[in-house]
Amino acid sequence: RGPIDPTNFDHLVRLSELIRSMADLGTLQPEFGIICGSGLGAIADQMEGARILPFSEVPGFPQPSVIGHKGNLVFGRIGGHFCMCLQGRFHPYEHKMDMALCTMPVRLMALLGVRTMIVSNAAGALNGDFQTGDLMVIKDHIFLPGLSGYSPLLGISDPRFGSRFVSLHNAYDKELRKKAMSLGRQMKVPLREGIYVMNAGPQYETAAECSLIARMGGDAVGMSTCHEVTVARQCGMRVFGFSLITNCSSVDSDEPVEVSHAEVLEVAAKGGALASKWMAELIRQISEK
Ligand code: ADE
Repeated sequence: RGPIDPTNFDHLVRLSELIRSMADLGTLQPEFGIICGSGLGAIADQMEGARILPFSEVPGFPQPSVIGHKGNLVFGRIGGHFCMCLQGRFHPYEHKMDMALCTMPVRLMALLGVRTMIVSNAAGALNGDFQTGDLMVIKDHIFLPGLSGYSPLLGISDPRFGSRFVSLHNAYDKELRKKAMSLGRQMKVPLREGIYVMNAGPQYETAAECSLIARMGGDAVGMSTCHEVTVARQCGMRVFGFSLITNCSSVDSDEPVEVSHAEVLEVAAKGGALASKWMAELIRQISEK
């Protein structure tokens, strides 16, 4: 009842309880929370006993406006483990940089019991060794909007959300990265590891911007993920992230390469099936402790 304020902890507690009852979860706690990137929603389609809540039925959830993002909250089992999946995400460029709104699903995941977040995205390669279709395990990120005043932690002062000055060391859990790399090699996944850079978008980067981002240490660039990971760490969740490389960016203004969302979706659809298999196997293995 009434509007949901994503910076109000009590509102989010009540919303998490509502979601729990809408999805008929009882006392079930999802262990893993998955955020699917553009065209990477296939993992949710593989969930056993899926319970689907369209975003349109969840109070406070906007409808995704980006093609390739379905807009469902899906609960179900992957490899025997109860998981929740965000089939579609909220990009800051869709919501006038309202970072608290865009990260609300991450805070809800934590309130529902999620301890490990797996996040994926479609990204453009800046590293000249990368090819389209490669999967890049995210080793660390450069959150350009976060460095310039668009942090999802702005205005969050209730200590129940976690520490205000969140340390982002080991943001992408080293142990999970190692497991994912060795599993990916066994499964013959075209694997890379690198630094993800977030451009607020929605415009793609100029060649000069790609050159800058490459020189600052970026291997891939996209328009999501960093705000979600920042909040997941504030909530104390472990994080694993990967990018599906959908296009290779030019760093030469005289040899520019056009990027199109249709191309991004086409490559993501092709690579999505293998990525989903790898993720499902990873979930099976990382829970076997
Ligand atoms: N998503 C896919 N490719 C991208 C790029 N080059 N820049 C930003 N987001 C992307």
